[in-house]
Amino acid sequence: MTRSRNWVLVGPTGAGKSTVGALFAARRGLRFIDLDATIEAQAGRRVAEIFAEDGEAAFRALESQALANALSDDGVVIATGGGIVLDAENRRRMRESALVAHLHADVATQLHRLRDATDRPLLARGDRDGVLHAMAAQRTPLYAGVAHVRIDTTSRDAADVADALHTITFDPPSMHAAPRRLDVDSPRGAYPIHIGAGLVADGTALVDAVRGRHALIVTDAHVAPLYLPVLDATLRRLRPDLRIGTLVLPPGESEKTLDRWREAVEALASLGATRDATLIALGGGVIGDLAGFAAACWMRGIDVVQVPTTLLAMVDSSVGGKTAVDLPAGKNLVGAFHPPSAVIADTSTLATLPPRELRAGLAEVVKYGAIFDARFLDWIEPNAAALLAGEPGVTAEAVERSCAYKAAVVARDPFERGDRALLNFGHTFGHAIETEQGYAGATGGLVHGEAVAVGMMLAARLSAAVGRASVADADRLERLLGSLELPTRIPSGLDPGALLDRMRLDKKADASGLRFILWDGIGQGRIVRDVPESLVVEVLAAR
Ligand SMILES: NC(=O)c1ccc[n+]([C@@H]2O[C@H](COP(=O)([O-])OP(=O)(O)OC[C@H]3O[C@@H](n4cnc5c(N)ncnc54)[C@H](O)[C@@H]3O)[C@@H](O)[C@H]2O)c1
Repeated sequence: MTRSRNWVLVGPTGAGKSTVGALFAARRGLRFIDLDATIEAQAGRRVAEIFAEDGEAAFRALESQALANALSDDGVVIATGGGIVLDAENRRRMRESALVAHLHADVATQLHRLRDATDRPLLARGDRDGVLHAMAAQRTPLYAGVAHVRIDTTSRDAADVADALHTITFDPPSMHAAPRRLDVDSPRGAYPIHIGAGLVADGTALVDAVRGRHALIVTDAHVAPLYLPVLDATLRRLRPDLRIGTLVLPPGESEKTLDRWREAVEALASLGATRDATLIALGGGVIGDLAGFAAACWMRGIDVVQVPTTLLAMVDSSVGGKTAVDLPAGKNLVGAFHPPSAVIADTSTLATLPPRELRAGLAEVVKYGAIFDARFLDWIEPNAAALLAGEPGVTAEAVERSCAYKAAVVARDPFERGDRALLNFGHTFGHAIETEQGYAGATGGLVHGEAVAVGMMLAARLSAAVGRASVADADRLERLLGSLELPTRIPSGLDPGALLDRMRLDKKADASGLRFILWDGIGQGRIVRDVPESLVVEVLAAR
């Protein structure tokens, strides 16, 4: 099949699919098919008439047939109707035989662009604002699940969007690559990490990991409207016997608390979860850590499947089994080692991740190069722009390579008695900053990944100060973090003495005193004791 030459544009009504599709097809020298226009020509009636006379179900059947016909062609750009994604078979077909681009428009933009439109049957009912919001809630996760690439068309004209599509340089075959799988050895048994687009909607890897009759999905209020309906529907479709509970927590680091952990274990109790129950952690590292800790404690340990939806969680926190909640006194002070039974990293969920959170995840990607492998930094540097843009092929590669580093080290050292501690490069400083700011990432402070970026810079500067590594290596790291739009300096207003006090309570300290993860140069992380406190204070005070 000549998949790579077909394109499908999906997205809400008013996103500009038809106009953009025609312009883009002309630029690429491909044939343009407007699916609604094709259906109208074949039926000899307007879409609105088909809806009114035969009903929506009849229209959807014609639409599915027209899609299948169009996709059997080669070298076409197909503009679809907003509801094409409602049908699972349509979604499967599109992903398998085309590159799918999601053209996004927010409701305000849709209302503006559709102000004179009279031919949209689902908008004929008056309250357009309400109808568009309801459709967005239902369909946005489906667009995200099916698309290989997403372009926000808000405040952009059609020619500009067509240009953006035309510049997409990713390697089409890699978009269709089968999901990748890595296996991680762990004391609780080996577990798979699945990496790929559309894994939640597909569901196969997920249900493989769900034993027993009970599943509790724990997620947060940002992620729930986007991916909970798809996950819930997938589970019900593939495991109709399963008793499913859901718990939606408020988002953010400030919620990674014992109180929220208690809500999770009480939700397990309400569900009647037995020892073979599965907890599904759907979200970023906050949800993964908190839900993982609830799973570690319920009946002394039940299965947890990690379904990470941030880049940071995909490349780091979902793998390796560290779970915890924070206390006001310090980050991750209460927790347990509890490896997951599977990690399902559905890279299409990254399409909705706020750019700041994407950048935060890139800090942990850089970390692997910094401590383990200079060649990985050599790869990140020229790909920085593509990573920042969330280009799917490059991002998937970064996830896979990062997971491979993490899988290898946690398999060697599951309980962090040896070189797994290298993963904390930048974290002693970063955690001190986060704690000192009162976990205020969402309200003006640094989020975890940003604090790690600053912490890695401080670790690199300290390495130079103690004579282990060159200043040039630290400068190179600073340039790379800067090109990824990550902070590299301690936020103003934080007192060096207070940060040092915070570090003394960090878990990286023990009876023999403060322990630092430094480097002997790029790719050579080292665990170092007996660092003179005066040098630490000097580096903290340098700004
Ligand atoms: N256990 C470990 O080994 C380990 C390793 C590294 C970090 N961590 C922990 O991970 C946490 C940080 O994780 P994080 O950066 O993922 O933060 P997070 O979980 O707070 O997620 C960041 C934000 O993105 C939102 N979000 C998540 N997925 C989204 C999506 N697909 N679309 C739109 N919004 C989305 C969340 O609601 C949240 O507002 C910290 O608590 C840190 O201590 C743990």
